[in-house]
Amino acid sequence: MSLPKVYITRPLPSPVVEHLATQCEVKMRPEDAPLNPAQLAESCRDIEGLLATGVRVSENVIAQAPRLRVVANVGVGYDNIDVAACTRRGIPVTNTPDVLTETTADLAFALLMAAPRRLVECDRYVREGHWRSPKWEMLWGSDIYGKTLGVYGLGRIGKAVARRARGFSMRVLYYDILRLAPALEQELDAPFVDRETLLREADFLTLHVPLTPETHHLIGARELALLKPTAFLINAARGKCVDEAALVEALEAKRLAGAGLDVFEHEPQVHPALLSLPNVVLAPHVGSATAATRLAMALLAAENLLAALEGHRPPNLVNTEIYAQPAAQ
Ligand code: 8YV
Repeated sequence: MSLPKVYITRPLPSPVVEHLATQCEVKMRPEDAPLNPAQLAESCRDIEGLLATGVRVSENVIAQAPRLRVVANVGVGYDNIDVAACTRRGIPVTNTPDVLTETTADLAFALLMAAPRRLVECDRYVREGHWRSPKWEMLWGSDIYGKTLGVYGLGRIGKAVARRARGFSMRVLYYDILRLAPALEQELDAPFVDRETLLREADFLTLHVPLTPETHHLIGARELALLKPTAFLINAARGKCVDEAALVEALEAKRLAGAGLDVFEHEPQVHPALLSLPNVVLAPHVGSATAATRLAMALLAAENLLAALEGHRPPNLVNTEIYAQPAAQ
């Protein structure tokens, strides 16, 4: 019996490839570079499993892959996959939650600290030899300890950021479309507030929502106007959740103190004005980028892919509606 054909869109660590190769015929793109839609469609033409990382899997790609039986995304967010198109074809889509939660929360918190304490500016100041004598007013920043953290989206990563904030004696508030159970709110010491209160009260507003039509431009001119002029915006979720032009305007007009951004509206392009604003710390979408976490993500994606190819319900199924039966617990 021939093994199912699987395509991996970027080079992944060898333990992942070796594991898949025990049960599949694996083809992996050797270049760690973007694939255009035509190239992706061509590579998916006769495959049954797609291990997707850093690609957009459109309806058109799916339509050109008649044998496709699973799309396993290496990432918790799956806005890069046309899930509805997969569902119509009965193709399971999977993601990689949990394994990247703490790593991504670390990065969000690193941005939360780097922006107000001006770490990038500090680094440049030292490297460029400006530190010639002590100065009273040198690179003053803003405090973190004891300030109010507004968590917009208290899912897995939002909770992990809230937990970190407790170590800094921060007051944590959150808003989400779903309210947590009272016991969990209490455990996190994070009361629920309405959207407007969150925006008005936060010294740091951190976003932890998935990108959906509802969260597109969640933070625009109106929301930015509600933030304190001393507040910082942290985004390690999705760039399109923020209206980047409105953010630039607010920062330039000093209606916002600064921002820490790991994600951008048109990645890998960054709004040119952000590049020249000193009060913004920028990172190239590295929230989950540690060797251990990236390996765990790839292994989990492989596990999901193999389960689906074997005809089982994969552990991290996104489009649950394609299985009539609920998952066995
Ligand atoms: C990855 C991410 O960078 O998991 C996510 O949703 O945004 C990141 O961890 C990305 O998915 C890489 O493929």
